[in-house]
Amino acid sequence: MIDSASYRRVLGAYPTGVAVITAAAPDGIRHGLVVGTFSAISLDPPLVGFFPDRKSRSWAQIAPIGRFCVNVLGSDQLDICRRFAMSADDKFADLAHGHSPSGQPLLENAIAWIDCAVESVIEVGDHFLVVGAVEALGRRDTGTPLLFFGGAYHDLADLPD
Ligand SMILES: Cc1cc2nc3c(=O)[nH]c(=O)nc-3n(C[C@H](O)[C@H](O)[C@H](O)COP(=O)(O)O)c2cc1C
Repeated sequence: MIDSASYRRVLGAYPTGVAVITAAAPDGIRHGLVVGTFSAISLDPPLVGFFPDRKSRSWAQIAPIGRFCVNVLGSDQLDICRRFAMSADDKFADLAHGHSPSGQPLLENAIAWIDCAVESVIEVGDHFLVVGAVEALGRRDTGTPLLFFGGAYHDLADLPD
């Protein structure tokens, strides 16, 4: 039997980036959640994926929209990370943002963005695996990613070139 404390401690040894998955419903209401489980999956065809918790309120709202934009956060966006990592009725309140080609919220200063159509959703344990077909993407020439490791946030500043 694997206890949850051991699982979290050991899996926390694997560092991740931090991304905000965003989408806008037809009525204009915007949704978003932080994930550390974002990953490239396939180049041909271009597919990416992430794992939302079955209990995620935001994923329940995004799923029927059928589209999402991945916003890869920079190390200067810890405030954005905290905002989108907690449940709230309007996580976008007073937050300026642009739009991806498909109309999903594009967060200012994200270091990269990937606009996707939901390709498939697979139940896996207490999470879903969401696979997205990449329709458009881009990145900034500057900025370093926000990193999550051992239960804390980090950046690349202390690494040599
Ligand atoms: C660094 C970090 C990584 C996270 N990764 C995930 C993830 O991969 N999947 C997930 O469902 N929640 C993840 N969360 C938690 C969600 O962001 C959080 O539960 C969610 O935004 C709560 O809001 P919601 O109920 O509106 O979805 C992560 C949180 C942090 C701080």
